[in-house]
Amino acid sequence: MTALTQRSGTVAGTRYTAYDQGAHLAQWSVEGAPVVWVSEQARYAVGEPIRGGVPVCWPWFADGPDGRHRPAHGFARTAPWTLVEQEQGRARHRLTWQLTGADTDGLPGAQTYPTHFRLALTADIGPDLALTLAVRNTGDDELVFEAALHTYLAVGDVRQVEVLGLEGAGYYDKVLGRHARQEGPVRLEGETDRVYERSAAVVVDDPVQDRQLRVTPVGATHTVVWNPWADKAGAMADFGEQEWTGMLCVETARVGRDAVRLAAGQEHRMTARIETTGRDAR
Ligand code: BG6
Repeated sequence: MTALTQRSGTVAGTRYTAYDQGAHLAQWSVEGAPVVWVSEQARYAVGEPIRGGVPVCWPWFADGPDGRHRPAHGFARTAPWTLVEQEQGRARHRLTWQLTGADTDGLPGAQTYPTHFRLALTADIGPDLALTLAVRNTGDDELVFEAALHTYLAVGDVRQVEVLGLEGAGYYDKVLGRHARQEGPVRLEGETDRVYERSAAVVVDDPVQDRQLRVTPVGATHTVVWNPWADKAGAMADFGEQEWTGMLCVETARVGRDAVRLAAGQEHRMTARIETTGRDAR
């Protein structure tokens, strides 16, 4: 049982589940196979983040630029968004949620942030999935924010995938606490938490599921690659015992020095598009 308002549907051979809280697309499957992953231990409770899907991180990423912001990933991911548009065509479904400053009154973390914003999150669902976060500055002062579409992808075995498209990119390794440069494809061999200074199409090549997942960003500057591995996942109540092997986050983000500084009346849009292809498309 969930206390959250759920939206679900099937379209073009795909199936999805989303929640108004956080404007959170939680699951997306193509031809019966999960592409957007959600934990079997995920909690669906008011004010709690959902482990999986595509959390909308805003107005800061992780602990924010100074490392002291709470809650982690900002208040938008657990805020009460409102569904303002729902189109259910034969080829695509489109859902749009909205969140304004007034909706965040009293939320932890929101007290110290300005209220002159209007967010819209659109999930455009068909044979591919496109998520767009539009942020409008509705006030007279600049609005400064970080943002991420924190996509949890389903993989056969994270120890066997290769992440293509980040070769040569500089990154900050949050596990080791140092900067480095990516040599060749990303192969994961332990806890991985990297903020790549590149925003380009990234392909997750998955030999176990015999497919590729492509994440194409628009309006972003960074790509975050995250998997907690066994120990860290084991310490999280909303991760099942071996579930970490079946997920990989490839996140579309604007962070750090590339935080958005939005002038009065302006809008910023950031999109993550997810597609699946066979491996022979390489
Ligand atoms: C990633 C961060 O984006 O999200 C990690 O880079 C973090 O540092 C992870 O651990 C999960 O965050 P949370 O708040 O959902 O547990």
